[in-house]
Amino acid sequence: MANRPKNRAERVAGHYDRLDAFYRRLWGEHLHHGLWPSASLSPGQAVRHLVRRVAQDARIAVGTRVCDVGCGYGAPARLWASEYGAQVTGFTVSEAQYRQACGRSVQGPPPVYQLQDFLAHDLPAESMDAVIGIESLTHIREPKEVFREAARLLRPGGRLVLCVWMAAPNASRGARRWLLDPICEEGRLWGLPTASSLYRWTEEAGLSVEQLDDLTSRVRRTWTVVLRRVGRALVSDPLLRRVLVDRSHPDRAFAWTLLRIWVAQHIGVLRYGWLVATQGG
Ligand SMILES: C[S@@+](CC[C@H](N)C(=O)[O-])C[C@H]1O[C@@H](n2cnc3c(N)ncnc32)[C@H](O)[C@@H]1O
Repeated sequence: MANRPKNRAERVAGHYDRLDAFYRRLWGEHLHHGLWPSASLSPGQAVRHLVRRVAQDARIAVGTRVCDVGCGYGAPARLWASEYGAQVTGFTVSEAQYRQACGRSVQGPPPVYQLQDFLAHDLPAESMDAVIGIESLTHIREPKEVFREAARLLRPGGRLVLCVWMAAPNASRGARRWLLDPICEEGRLWGLPTASSLYRWTEEAGLSVEQLDDLTSRVRRTWTVVLRRVGRALVSDPLLRRVLVDRSHPDRAFAWTLLRIWVAQHIGVLRYGWLVATQGG
Protein backbone atom coordinates (compact mmCIF):
# COMPACT_ATOMS: atom_id res chain seq x y z
CA MET A 1 0.00 0.00 0.00
CA ALA A 2 1.45 3.38 -0.96
CA ASN A 3 1.71 5.97 1.79
CA ARG A 4 1.89 9.63 0.86
CA PRO A 5 5.29 11.06 1.73
CA LYS A 6 5.32 13.27 4.80
CA ASN A 7 5.53 17.06 4.43
CA ARG A 8 9.26 17.41 4.88
CA ALA A 9 9.83 15.31 1.76
CA GLU A 10 7.13 16.91 -0.38
CA ARG A 11 9.38 19.55 -1.88
CA VAL A 12 11.68 16.83 -3.18
CA ALA A 13 8.75 14.67 -4.29
CA GLY A 14 7.25 17.55 -6.30
CA HIS A 15 10.57 18.17 -8.03
CA TYR A 16 10.88 14.56 -9.19
CA ASP A 17 7.21 14.28 -10.13
CA ARG A 18 7.21 17.45 -12.23
CA LEU A 19 10.49 16.58 -13.90
CA ASP A 20 9.63 12.91 -14.43
CA ALA A 21 9.64 13.08 -18.24
CA PHE A 22 12.69 15.37 -18.25
CA TYR A 23 14.70 12.96 -16.12
CA ARG A 24 13.63 9.84 -17.98
CA ARG A 25 14.46 11.34 -21.36
CA LEU A 26 17.83 12.77 -20.33
CA TRP A 27 19.04 10.17 -17.82
CA GLY A 28 16.98 7.07 -18.59
CA GLU A 29 16.05 4.80 -15.71
CA HIS A 30 19.30 5.25 -13.70
CA LEU A 31 19.14 8.62 -11.91
CA HIS A 32 22.76 8.78 -10.86
CA HIS A 33 26.28 9.40 -12.14
CA GLY A 34 28.19 6.92 -14.24
CA LEU A 35 31.50 5.57 -12.95
CA TRP A 36 34.28 5.40 -15.54
CA PRO A 37 37.20 3.10 -14.62
CA SER A 38 38.43 3.74 -18.18
CA ALA A 39 37.39 6.14 -20.91
CA SER A 40 36.12 3.34 -23.12
CA LEU A 41 32.81 2.74 -21.31
CA SER A 42 29.59 4.09 -22.84
CA PRO A 43 27.36 6.16 -20.51
CA GLY A 44 25.00 3.17 -20.16
CA GLN A 45 27.86 0.87 -19.21
CA ALA A 46 29.21 3.46 -16.76
CA VAL A 47 25.94 3.76 -14.79
CA ARG A 48 25.68 -0.02 -14.53
CA HIS A 49 29.34 -0.20 -13.52
CA LEU A 50 28.58 2.14 -10.60
CA VAL A 51 25.65 -0.02 -9.48
CA ARG A 52 27.76 -3.21 -9.66
CA ARG A 53 30.58 -1.58 -7.71
CA VAL A 54 28.03 -0.64 -5.02
CA ALA A 55 26.87 -4.28 -5.00
CA GLN A 56 30.45 -5.46 -4.47
CA ASP A 57 31.05 -3.04 -1.61
CA ALA A 58 27.71 -3.97 -0.01
CA ARG A 59 28.60 -7.68 -0.51
CA ILE A 60 25.32 -8.37 -2.24
CA ALA A 61 24.70 -12.05 -3.04
CA VAL A 62 21.73 -14.41 -3.38
CA GLY A 63 19.14 -13.60 -0.71
CA THR A 64 20.90 -10.48 0.62
CA ARG A 65 18.29 -8.18 2.17
CA VAL A 66 18.95 -4.71 0.80
CA CYS A 67 17.29 -1.45 1.77
CA ASP A 68 17.68 1.11 -1.06
CA VAL A 69 17.19 4.62 0.36
CA GLY A 70 15.92 6.72 -2.54
CA CYS A 71 15.41 4.03 -5.16
CA GLY A 72 14.37 6.29 -8.06
CA TYR A 73 12.86 4.28 -10.91
CA GLY A 74 14.16 1.08 -9.33
CA ALA A 75 16.90 0.43 -11.91
CA PRO A 76 19.62 -0.37 -9.33
CA ALA A 77 17.15 -2.58 -7.37
CA ARG A 78 16.31 -4.53 -10.52
CA LEU A 79 19.98 -5.04 -11.34
CA TRP A 80 20.77 -6.30 -7.82
CA ALA A 81 17.75 -8.64 -8.00
CA SER A 82 18.40 -10.01 -11.47
CA GLU A 83 22.21 -10.26 -11.43
CA TYR A 84 22.77 -11.10 -7.74
CA GLY A 85 19.44 -12.49 -6.45
CA ALA A 86 19.06 -9.76 -3.80
CA GLN A 87 15.78 -9.04 -2.01
CA VAL A 88 15.45 -5.28 -2.25
CA THR A 89 13.13 -2.89 -0.43
CA GLY A 90 13.32 0.52 -2.07
CA PHE A 91 12.01 3.87 -0.84
CA THR A 92 11.12 6.86 -2.98
CA VAL A 93 9.08 9.97 -2.22
CA SER A 94 8.11 10.48 -5.86
CA GLU A 95 4.81 9.01 -6.97
CA ALA A 96 5.89 9.14 -10.62
CA GLN A 97 9.01 7.11 -9.80
CA TYR A 98 7.04 4.70 -7.65
CA ARG A 99 4.55 3.99 -10.44
CA GLN A 100 7.30 3.47 -13.01
CA ALA A 101 9.23 1.19 -10.66
CA CYS A 102 6.17 -0.92 -9.81
CA GLY A 103 5.34 -1.28 -13.51
CA ARG A 104 8.70 -2.84 -14.48
CA SER A 105 9.23 -6.58 -14.52
CA VAL A 106 12.37 -8.17 -13.17
CA GLN A 107 14.06 -11.55 -13.43
CA GLY A 108 14.83 -12.50 -9.86
CA PRO A 109 13.22 -11.66 -6.51
CA PRO A 110 10.79 -8.79 -7.22
CA PRO A 111 11.85 -5.64 -5.35
CA VAL A 112 9.30 -4.16 -2.93
CA TYR A 113 8.85 -0.43 -3.46
CA GLN A 114 7.53 1.96 -0.83
CA LEU A 115 6.25 5.43 -1.64
CA GLN A 116 7.42 6.83 1.66
CA ASP A 117 9.93 9.03 3.42
CA PHE A 118 12.75 6.72 4.50
CA LEU A 119 12.73 8.33 7.95
CA ALA A 120 9.07 7.42 8.45
CA HIS A 121 9.14 3.68 7.76
CA ASP A 122 8.46 0.86 10.20
CA LEU A 123 10.96 -1.83 9.20
CA PRO A 124 12.18 -3.88 12.18
CA ALA A 125 15.64 -3.48 13.70
CA GLU A 126 18.43 -5.68 12.29
CA SER A 127 16.23 -6.66 9.34
CA MET A 128 18.74 -5.70 6.60
CA ASP A 129 22.09 -7.03 5.44
CA ALA A 130 22.85 -3.88 3.49
CA VAL A 131 21.58 -0.29 3.42
CA ILE A 132 22.40 1.65 0.26
CA GLY A 133 21.77 5.24 -0.77
CA ILE A 134 22.82 6.30 -4.26
CA GLU A 135 22.67 10.10 -4.40
CA SER A 136 19.72 10.44 -2.03
CA LEU A 137 21.31 11.54 1.27
CA THR A 138 21.51 15.23 0.41
CA HIS A 139 17.77 15.34 -0.36
CA ILE A 140 16.97 14.30 3.21
CA ARG A 141 16.65 17.13 5.66
CA GLU A 142 18.06 15.22 8.64
CA PRO A 143 21.06 13.37 7.17
CA LYS A 144 22.38 12.35 10.61
CA GLU A 145 19.09 10.49 11.14
CA VAL A 146 19.73 8.46 8.00
CA PHE A 147 22.94 7.12 9.58
CA ARG A 148 21.16 6.34 12.85
CA GLU A 149 18.35 4.61 11.01
CA ALA A 150 20.80 2.62 8.88
CA ALA A 151 22.62 1.51 12.03
CA ARG A 152 19.31 0.35 13.52
CA LEU A 153 18.26 -1.54 10.40
CA LEU A 154 21.55 -3.34 9.83
CA ARG A 155 22.23 -6.73 11.39
CA PRO A 156 25.65 -7.11 13.02
CA GLY A 157 28.21 -7.23 10.20
CA GLY A 158 25.76 -5.52 7.82
CA ARG A 159 27.05 -2.88 5.40
CA LEU A 160 26.18 0.69 4.52
CA VAL A 161 27.17 2.05 1.10
CA LEU A 162 26.46 5.67 0.22
CA CYS A 163 27.24 7.65 -2.93
CA VAL A 164 26.99 11.28 -1.85
CA TRP A 165 27.32 14.70 -3.43
CA MET A 166 29.76 16.63 -1.21
CA ALA A 167 31.18 20.14 -0.90
CA ALA A 168 34.94 20.61 -1.00
CA PRO A 169 36.06 21.69 2.50
CA ASN A 170 37.85 24.72 1.07
CA ALA A 171 35.02 25.96 -1.19
CA SER A 172 35.25 29.75 -1.27
CA ARG A 173 32.37 32.08 -0.41
CA GLY A 174 32.06 32.91 -4.10
CA ALA A 175 31.88 29.23 -5.07
CA ARG A 176 29.21 28.70 -2.43
CA ARG A 177 27.21 31.72 -3.48
CA TRP A 178 27.32 31.25 -7.27
CA LEU A 179 27.56 27.49 -7.54
CA LEU A 180 26.83 25.33 -4.49
CA ASP A 181 23.93 27.31 -2.97
CA PRO A 182 22.01 27.59 -6.26
CA ILE A 183 22.68 23.90 -7.01
CA CYS A 184 21.13 23.02 -3.63
CA GLU A 185 18.18 25.36 -4.12
CA GLU A 186 17.40 24.30 -7.68
CA GLY A 187 18.17 20.60 -7.13
CA ARG A 188 16.10 20.45 -3.91
CA LEU A 189 19.09 19.46 -1.77
CA TRP A 190 19.08 20.45 1.90
CA GLY A 191 22.84 20.97 1.87
CA LEU A 192 26.13 19.42 0.85
CA PRO A 193 28.20 17.72 3.54
CA THR A 194 31.97 17.62 3.52
CA ALA A 195 33.78 14.29 3.73
CA SER A 196 34.63 14.95 7.37
CA SER A 197 30.94 15.46 8.28
CA LEU A 198 30.10 12.15 6.60
CA TYR A 199 32.85 10.44 8.55
CA ARG A 200 31.65 11.95 11.84
CA TRP A 201 27.96 11.13 11.30
CA THR A 202 28.83 7.52 10.45
CA GLU A 203 30.95 6.99 13.53
CA GLU A 204 28.47 8.85 15.81
CA ALA A 205 25.76 6.43 14.64
CA GLY A 206 27.91 3.52 15.86
CA LEU A 207 29.03 2.33 12.42
CA SER A 208 32.69 1.86 11.45
CA VAL A 209 33.95 3.63 8.35
CA GLU A 210 35.75 1.14 6.11
CA GLN A 211 36.26 3.39 3.12
CA LEU A 212 35.56 7.05 2.29
CA ASP A 213 36.81 7.93 -1.18
CA ASP A 214 36.50 10.92 -3.44
CA LEU A 215 35.60 9.63 -6.91
CA THR A 216 34.87 12.99 -8.56
CA SER A 217 37.39 12.52 -11.36
CA ARG A 218 35.83 9.16 -12.27
CA VAL A 219 32.19 10.34 -12.38
CA ARG A 220 32.29 13.90 -13.71
CA ARG A 221 32.12 12.88 -17.36
CA THR A 222 28.41 12.35 -16.57
CA TRP A 223 27.72 16.08 -16.87
CA THR A 224 29.40 16.40 -20.24
CA VAL A 225 27.14 13.59 -21.42
CA VAL A 226 24.05 15.24 -19.90
CA LEU A 227 24.85 18.66 -21.38
CA ARG A 228 25.32 17.10 -24.82
CA ARG A 229 21.93 15.44 -24.46
CA VAL A 230 20.38 18.76 -23.42
CA GLY A 231 21.86 20.39 -26.53
CA ARG A 232 20.37 17.71 -28.77
CA ALA A 233 17.02 17.90 -26.94
CA LEU A 234 16.80 21.65 -27.50
CA VAL A 235 16.81 20.97 -31.21
CA SER A 236 14.74 17.82 -31.40
CA ASP A 237 12.49 17.30 -28.37
CA PRO A 238 9.53 19.69 -27.93
CA LEU A 239 8.74 18.47 -24.39
CA LEU A 240 12.26 19.06 -23.12
CA ARG A 241 12.45 22.35 -24.98
CA ARG A 242 9.37 23.45 -23.04
CA VAL A 243 11.03 22.68 -19.67
CA LEU A 244 14.18 24.47 -20.75
CA VAL A 245 12.69 27.64 -22.21
CA ASP A 246 9.17 28.02 -20.76
CA ARG A 247 9.42 30.78 -18.16
CA SER A 248 6.30 29.52 -16.36
CA HIS A 249 7.76 26.04 -15.69
CA PRO A 250 8.55 25.86 -11.93
CA ASP A 251 11.69 23.77 -12.45
CA ARG A 252 13.11 25.57 -15.46
CA ALA A 253 15.98 26.87 -13.32
CA PHE A 254 17.04 23.33 -12.51
CA ALA A 255 17.53 22.57 -16.17
CA TRP A 256 20.00 25.46 -16.35
CA THR A 257 21.72 24.47 -13.13
CA LEU A 258 23.11 21.45 -14.97
CA LEU A 259 25.72 23.83 -16.32
CA ARG A 260 26.57 25.00 -12.80
CA ILE A 261 27.03 21.38 -11.73
CA TRP A 262 29.41 20.79 -14.65
CA VAL A 263 31.50 23.83 -13.66
CA ALA A 264 31.42 23.05 -9.92
CA GLN A 265 32.65 19.50 -10.46
CA HIS A 266 35.30 20.51 -12.96
CA ILE A 267 36.80 23.21 -10.72
CA GLY A 268 36.62 20.81 -7.78
CA VAL A 269 34.18 22.50 -5.38
CA LEU A 270 31.46 19.87 -5.86
CA ARG A 271 32.82 16.42 -5.02
CA TYR A 272 31.54 12.84 -5.24
CA GLY A 273 31.92 10.79 -2.08
CA TRP A 274 31.84 7.00 -1.76
CA LEU A 275 31.33 5.76 1.76
CA VAL A 276 31.40 2.15 2.95
CA ALA A 277 30.74 1.37 6.62
CA THR A 278 29.96 -1.69 8.69
CA GLN A 279 27.73 -2.42 11.64
CA GLY A 280 30.02 -3.84 14.27
CA GLY A 281 27.05 -4.98 16.37
C1 LIG B 1 18.96 11.39 -7.54
S1 LIG B 1 17.62 10.31 -7.21
C2 LIG B 1 18.51 8.77 -7.13
C3 LIG B 1 17.61 7.60 -7.42
C4 LIG B 1 18.29 6.23 -7.42
N1 LIG B 1 19.10 6.01 -6.24
C5 LIG B 1 19.12 6.04 -8.64
O1 LIG B 1 20.31 6.20 -8.45
O2 LIG B 1 18.59 5.77 -9.73
C6 LIG B 1 17.23 10.63 -5.51
C7 LIG B 1 16.17 9.71 -4.92
O3 LIG B 1 16.04 9.98 -3.53
C8 LIG B 1 14.69 9.86 -3.18
N2 LIG B 1 14.44 10.54 -1.90
C9 LIG B 1 14.65 11.83 -1.60
N3 LIG B 1 14.29 12.09 -0.32
C10 LIG B 1 13.85 10.91 0.20
C11 LIG B 1 13.35 10.51 1.47
N4 LIG B 1 13.20 11.37 2.47
N5 LIG B 1 12.98 9.22 1.63
C12 LIG B 1 13.10 8.32 0.62
N6 LIG B 1 13.58 8.64 -0.60
C13 LIG B 1 13.95 9.92 -0.81
C14 LIG B 1 13.95 10.46 -4.36
O4 LIG B 1 12.60 10.08 -4.36
C15 LIG B 1 14.76 9.86 -5.50
O5 LIG B 1 14.25 8.59 -5.78
